[in-house]
Amino acid sequence: MDSMAVKKKPSSSCTAVAPSSTANLGPGYDVFGLALDARYDRVTITKRAGKDSNITIKMSDGAIPSVPESNSAGLVIKKMAQDFSITDDLDIVVKKGVPAGYGMGSSAASAAAAAVAFDGLYKLKLDKNRLVEYAAEGEVASAGTRHYDNVSASVLGGFIISSVGQDGIRFIRIEPPKDLFMVVAVPAIPVPAKKTEVARSVLPREVPLKSAVHNVSGASTLVAGFALGDVEMIARGIDNDVIVEPARKHLIPGYDSVRKNAFAAGALAVTISGAGPSVIAFLKGKTKRKQVIKAMEAGFMEVGIKCQTFACGPSKGARIVV
Ligand code: HSE
Repeated sequence: MDSMAVKKKPSSSCTAVAPSSTANLGPGYDVFGLALDARYDRVTITKRAGKDSNITIKMSDGAIPSVPESNSAGLVIKKMAQDFSITDDLDIVVKKGVPAGYGMGSSAASAAAAAVAFDGLYKLKLDKNRLVEYAAEGEVASAGTRHYDNVSASVLGGFIISSVGQDGIRFIRIEPPKDLFMVVAVPAIPVPAKKTEVARSVLPREVPLKSAVHNVSGASTLVAGFALGDVEMIARGIDNDVIVEPARKHLIPGYDSVRKNAFAAGALAVTISGAGPSVIAFLKGKTKRKQVIKAMEAGFMEVGIKCQTFACGPSKGARIVV
């Protein structure tokens, strides 16, 4: 018998999935993110024979650009390849599960799955903070800026606080309580190509101190709720945004009716999911989810808009699947 050990062929491909997410949660604009166990994007990276840094992208959703420089997964992979001096030609396949452009962290899910798949393929073993930093590169494709709330949640799962300090940005993860449940209503309305940029452009450049104090109170209550595992406290915090929601809600037809109906059906808090136009309701337990779904659908129907709904708990975040 040949005594030579059989060498395991290094793998030439890696696939990761990453979940949808909701950003802001009311008063935590650009700071809070929560991963949703609703829809997932799937990214496969395969090495080709060449070493000319050529990257091809195949998208399951033809509406999303497949040029690496304008694609959230492509931007992440280009940056990671550059930083680690990897010149392999790569084929990337992105299978979209998260609806794009509706405030469910769609670009972030592709970016998060791309960062995790690249890390897995090249066995980089990057720490969580660096993985999120790389995933945030992808947000430039859709938002024009690097913001971390969706990508951090999509990479790490659970509830995430983007914590800014002298040493840069760090991500604090809190495991959400088991009885936290969400209903997301995604209205079937057309959204502009650069929707997040548009939704950011309507926000005030400066806010009165009184409003800042109000939002800090809401954000602190929300964090305390996550830390204590108290869904009612989380909801009380979410419902305290006097800065972003009032400035954006006119972009969502029927918003006030959807919100009112969801509360009447048993939701404890209702707000815009990320930059919208999806609306997210927070529930204690899942027993009232069907009533809340119906109520939100009826709210949108009041202005003649159909919506798709997702009922879900929090997600554990991105993971390698193959
Ligand atoms: N925090 C961001 C915003 C999320 O509200 O603009 C967008 O994905």
